[in-house]
Amino acid sequence: MTQDELKQAVARAAIDYVVDGEIVGVGTGSTANFFIDELGKIRDRIKGAVASSEATAARLKSHGIPVLDLNEVERMSVYIDGADEIDHGGAMIKGGGGALTREKIVASVADKFICIADESKLVDVLGKFPLPVEVIPMAGKSVARALAALGANPVLRMKDGQPYVTDNGCHILDAASLQIRDPKALEQQINQLAGVVSVGLFARQGAAVCLLGTATGVKTLAF
Ligand code: A5P
Repeated sequence: MTQDELKQAVARAAIDYVVDGEIVGVGTGSTANFFIDELGKIRDRIKGAVASSEATAARLKSHGIPVLDLNEVERMSVYIDGADEIDHGGAMIKGGGGALTREKIVASVADKFICIADESKLVDVLGKFPLPVEVIPMAGKSVARALAALGANPVLRMKDGQPYVTDNGCHILDAASLQIRDPKALEQQINQLAGVVSVGLFARQGAAVCLLGTATGVKTLAF
């Protein structure tokens, strides 16, 4: 099976977690895109979706799925999204696609985070994938120095020769060379740095379930 086929399989499996008549929180990225395509097929069963990025909102709308503003929504049963890495405790690194802040906000309103990922994302220790940290642009250098003091090797994310700009008008530092043995503690530590908008560590509110695409089928990991 190709990686895309594994992503498609977990996207299909995630439909079982969607509650009829409710609003669904929807993530960002290539795996989330497969999920949106599946959600489009059952769009009459749901009230609508809250999107974690402009790109996701556009794809949801292209399937005729109503996109709601989070301020109109009090709770959701599930938030469904991919991950760049997930460990055996359900802690994740996210933000490779740059949408970490809105992902964290939407996920915080959902009862359960359902992670959909192919098996390459499951790791023993988080950190091989550089940890994305969204920053207010003027704090880029000061936060980079603070991340370096924590042992990371932070690099300002670039696009077309310019700093990458998020949906929130901010920049991203990708913090490489970390071995994250205590994800909850590091999440809290980085959150407290002045100028950090959010960190792509999802540990304090990690995944409740991971649907993992493997060569022998979709495995369900519950945390
Ligand atoms: C987007 O900002 C990310 O958090 C993605 O959810 C994550 O990078 C996984 O993306 P893929 O499904 O494309 O690997």
